[in-house]
Amino acid sequence: MDFTKLCSERARHITKNKLAIDLLEHVKCYLNQEKYEHTVGTLIEAAHYSEALFAQIPEDIVFAACLHDVAKQWNREELIDYWKRDLIGNFIPNEHQLHAYVGAIYAVNTFVINEDVFRAITYHTSCRAQASILEQIIYLADWTDKNRKGRDIGHLRAVAKADFFKGFKLSLDMGIKECIDKGRIIYPDLYNARKYYFEMDTNPYPEK
Ligand SMILES: [Fe+2]
Ligand SMILES: [Fe+2]
Repeated sequence: MDFTKLCSERARHITKNKLAIDLLEHVKCYLNQEKYEHTVGTLIEAAHYSEALFAQIPEDIVFAACLHDVAKQWNREELIDYWKRDLIGNFIPNEHQLHAYVGAIYAVNTFVINEDVFRAITYHTSCRAQASILEQIIYLADWTDKNRKGRDIGHLRAVAKADFFKGFKLSLDMGIKECIDKGRIIYPDLYNARKYYFEMDTNPYPEK
């Protein structure tokens, strides 16, 4: 059996992990079936990348993947209200990133999570320059979840399974293309992430 397949096999078991079961149960009441399945799919993808890179699945992966879209289906009023409760200053994220920022605050208020998990949830829509490996894994896993449909997703999955860093960089391109295709502004953090990682000419992760 090849290494990538073995990692995927092992990653699928993550949904039977006690922490994953508890967190998925928690987010289930905030998500419709489609978004719930996307969350499970993102968790499995993140577990796969973590296995492939580090031969382990730390709790941070489980927390970040399970909670990343907890606020995805809150309406704008709920999101703004929640955001304003903890808001320092006048910054309000754009409508596409707001659920990520609010979800991160919700996660801190509800669970004991560290700053890396907080950032992985905050930046799962836009990524950012100098993102941690956890942030990169969650950003890419959100794209390659098996439930996600769309042009070029199959190609992205194949690239990412063969080479995490190439897949991650391609997902930044796809994020920018999506902004353009949908007539959105290109999130400044996403632009900066692409610039930062495309200037990096060597793969920072060990080849398998
Ligand atoms: Fe999201
Ligand atoms: Fe997502």
